[in-house]
Order: sequence, then C-alpha cells, then structure tokens
Amino acid sequence: ILEAAEKAGYRIPRLCFLKKINEIGACRMCVVDVGARSLAAACVMPVSEGMVVKTNTPQVRKARKAVLELILSNHRMDCLTCARNAPCELRQLASDLDLAKELGVEENRFEGENIHYPLDNFSPSIVRDPNKCILCRRCVAVCRNVQKIGAIGAVNRGFKTVIAPAF
Ligand code: FES
Repeated sequence: ILEAAEKAGYRIPRLCFLKKINEIGACRMCVVDVGARSLAAACVMPVSEGMVVKTNTPQVRKARKAVLELILSNHRMDCLTCARNAPCELRQLASDLDLAKELGVEENRFEGENIHYPLDNFSPSIVRDPNKCILCRRCVAVCRNVQKIGAIGAVNRGFKTVIAPAF
C-alpha cells in the first residue's frame, strides 16, 4: 500500500520501513484504513483489486498521533544538541513534515518512567546512544540482511527492549 500510495502521489508517514530490507510493520506510523476491523500497516499490507484505502481519516490521524506520542514519551528531546539533528527522520517526521502540529502532538499525554541507558562508546569506530533508539529495528535488519552478520537483535521485552548483541 505504501508504495502504491506513493506512486499515486500520496505520502504515508513511516519510520521502520526500509524497502526490501526491513518490512516488518514494527512502528505502526504508516497505519491506514482498509475497511477492516483494525487499521493496517501500509508498509506490509499488499494491495488487492478493488481495495479502498483511506490514508487520512480522523481515526488514522489519531492512531498515528498516539504512535508518535508514545515514541516521544521515552525519547530524549535534546534535538538542538543532538549530533543527528537535521537528518533525524523522527525530527523530520515531527517537525519538517509538521506532523507534530498536524497531528496535534503539542504536549505529551504519556508521562511515566523513562529509561536512561549509558552511552556505548566501547568501539573505536562508533558511538551508540541507546536513548535515541526508537526500536525500528532497521539496524538489526541491515546487520542481518545487508551485512549478513546478524550480530544484534532485540534484547529483553516490552518497555525494557533494547537493541544489542545477545547476552
Ligand atoms: Fe509501516 Fe513502520 S513504516 S509499520
């Protein structure tokens, strides 16, 4: 659906999707209404003849807003000093595309526990800040499917999930 919509000139927001590398429907940012009981993730739902897809209904916008709010609720919002800054897709999604305003995410409804992980700078070539991770699993997919290594994956469950090597 995501690609068909794009070909037809409709941009559906997405975070975890990486064409042919990470097509797992993890983030739910791309949800659309296909007339089913629940919303469908456009990045993993195949199109079919006669299918009617609604990409911008109040229900769809509400669901995307909740997804974005949940991601931001456990995210260090230090964009101005973050090394990623301008090329950050999360920030682009929330600000450049005006999604935060468009979706009405002006304040966070989901206040609660925040997890703070130590900075991982053990490698001479890479510094990882797990606090910036949104668990899209694209790094896991690239490690497994492009590099053919499979060294990292999701460790722990639920709120404590972190991307790391096993053990
Ligand atoms: Fe579709 Fe993440 S982009 S679920």
